[in-house]
Order: sequence, then structure tokens, then C-alpha cells
Amino acid sequence: MNVIIPPTANAQPIPDTLQSDPKFAVPKALEAEIDELITHYPQKRSASLMLLHALQENLGFISKEAVEWIAKKLELQPINIYELVTFYPMFRQKPIGKYHLKVCRTLSCALGGAHELHKHLCQKFGLDAHGHGAQTSKDGKYTVEFVECLASCGTAPVLMCNEDFHEGVSHGKADQIVGNCK
Ligand code: FES
Repeated sequence: MNVIIPPTANAQPIPDTLQSDPKFAVPKALEAEIDELITHYPQKRSASLMLLHALQENLGFISKEAVEWIAKKLELQPINIYELVTFYPMFRQKPIGKYHLKVCRTLSCALGGAHELHKHLCQKFGLDAHGHGAQTSKDGKYTVEFVECLASCGTAPVLMCNEDFHEGVSHGKADQIVGNCK
């Protein structure tokens, strides 16, 4: 049985590890979608992950304000949402660049040169090839991140640039892809 923690007038503060987003705002259309989404679950709390995905997809990352907004919407304490953000690595706690380069590192791509490709991109943007998680160039334009299988294992190594999918990505092809990012 799920235990529902009722919200209190003074919500418990969450650890100060999430970036604040002074411009945080949920567009009306998105809020309407979210309200509809919540109705699909027998308990509001069960929609927590879906709301996190929805805000990340639309706003780029999960800020402190996003955690508080979701908690309020689901009648939970912010810590209930914060613990999901810090547990699941797919939730970004920092803004990403205009171009998000996702390099698959699962077996076929790893064997096909994904690590060298990731290193090449990191060097290109002055990032630490051994750093963990998504890293963004100083100008805020490019984010490079390892991801797991992108479901095209026969055409390794595979890379996504925002929503565009690229197969058999050599270093030269990666340079071309980046060159097309304006
Ligand atoms: S292993 Fe890279 S797409 Fe499957």
C-alpha cells in the first residue's frame, strides 16, 4: 500500500544541490497536458516520473523550482520528487546546450569506437572526456553525453544530435554534424 505524505503549509526544504531557474514557468498548454496525464493514474503520486519527463523535455532540465512545482501539483513534499531526480541518472540537474550530442556507448557502439568518438567531441569542445554525465561547452552551445543503446546496433557507432539520428559516425562525420549546427 502506498503511503501518501500530505503536503504541509511549510514544505520541508530540499538539499541545496539543484540549480535554480529564475525564469521557470510552465506554459498553460503544457500544464493542461500534465493535468490530463495525472488523471490516468489511480494515485497522483504515481505520475511523478511522467511529470519529471514532461518538464525536462519542455524546459531542458529539472530545476529546484520544477521539483517544487511538481510536488505541489501532486500534493507531495518536494523531497519526494527530489529523491527521484537524484536517483535516476536520466534526469538532468543542469541546463543543456542548444545542441545535445548523445553518443551511444553500449556494446556494439563501444566496439565500433564510441569512446574514441566521445573523446573526440569532448576535445573539440574543451570538455573532460573522463567526466561523468552530460557536459556542456563554456559557450553553452554544445552538450556531450554518453547514452545507452539507441537501437541501431548494426550501424555503430551511433550518435544523436538533438532529434537527428546519425549512424556509422566517424570523427570526420561528427565534425560535419557539428559544422551543421548553427
Ligand atoms: S549499441 Fe549503440 S545503438 Fe545499440
